[in-house]
Amino acid sequence: MHNLLEKAYQTNDLTKEEIMYLLENITPEDREVLYSYALKTKQAYYGDKVYLRGLIEFSNICRQDCLYCGIRASNAKVERYRLTPEEILGCCDQGYELGYRTFVLQSGEDLWFTEEILVDLLQVIKKRYPEIAITLSIGQRGVKTYQSLFGAGADRFLMRHETASKELYEKLHPTMRFDDRRDCLSALKEIGYQVGAGFMVGLPGQKPADLAEDLRYLMELRPDMIGIGPFIPHSETPLGAEKGGTIEDTLVMVALARLLIPGSLMPATTALGTLHPLGREFAFKAGANVVMPIITPPSVRKKYALYENKICGDDHPEDCRYCIEGRIQAAGFEVDLGRGDSWQYSFLTAKRFTSKKRIYSRND
Ligand code: 5AD
Repeated sequence: MHNLLEKAYQTNDLTKEEIMYLLENITPEDREVLYSYALKTKQAYYGDKVYLRGLIEFSNICRQDCLYCGIRASNAKVERYRLTPEEILGCCDQGYELGYRTFVLQSGEDLWFTEEILVDLLQVIKKRYPEIAITLSIGQRGVKTYQSLFGAGADRFLMRHETASKELYEKLHPTMRFDDRRDCLSALKEIGYQVGAGFMVGLPGQKPADLAEDLRYLMELRPDMIGIGPFIPHSETPLGAEKGGTIEDTLVMVALARLLIPGSLMPATTALGTLHPLGREFAFKAGANVVMPIITPPSVRKKYALYENKICGDDHPEDCRYCIEGRIQAAGFEVDLGRGDSWQYSFLTAKRFTSKKRIYSRND
């Protein structure tokens, strides 16, 4: 086992079989070794910084019907809400005041927000705050829409692949197709977004082979961001009586993702913070380096319940901002309020810049 962990640390590479062996045989002592390698790897790429993103959950209306999700279209018990573009802009103003320089605009798949409305909104935000980064997390749309949104100022796009097992994916997503999601992720990358993928741990029927496939897929896609969180059952969904993912299994996947896709930005997810009061702190020590404090207005927060008992439901944006800062510092890390672009994005941009400079000097 130690040879395998050492190999992952030294080479950032494991085969599917090696990952499966690791997941099936890892002991609590091995886990500590894995976390310490993941922490060292994170430090080599990003130091001790933890990047903050202000998360605006702007609509819980969704056309999809994912079996695990509390805001699925068939859940008639959810009180639906949709913030207006002006309200979203107000959240950005407040977030900016609190120091955030990335805003994540997340929603269910709500087609009231047409390409046109989103383009207008992005342009207004970018005009007001040119130096910030905007991350969209609005699900599947056409390539043309993705292009327009990028042109209007969206910098990044989060869309978890959810699971790399086609069979499991199809069981969990009656309204979606496995290949479509992957095509969207590839298109987003092609357009030039910094892309985030990721998956849930502990889904009903999910096997070590499926989790190994999740990591192999990420190694192939090379996303800038990777979100990994435990599945948490929601009682008003068909999976309400299932067992959820554990904190240990999730942390192992976070740490392995850090070793195998070392330059990625990885959030300590709210779902981890929901499973354990120190879940996000454990994640920082296992390779995570981002956190997404919620700046959604308190009046609608509780309605954005993808799973139950989600933390911070009664908090105000400023509570979350300073709570998180205290937690990051207490865990021994540094808050970074900058744009926090991914390592590979910064590296490629720098390379483009240098090669341009080289062309100029040749012509001069
Ligand atoms: N438990 C944990 N995570 C969930 N998500 C949706 N429903 C749940 C749940 N019940 C995750 C999905 C989605 C992200 C926004 O939230 O992975 O991509």
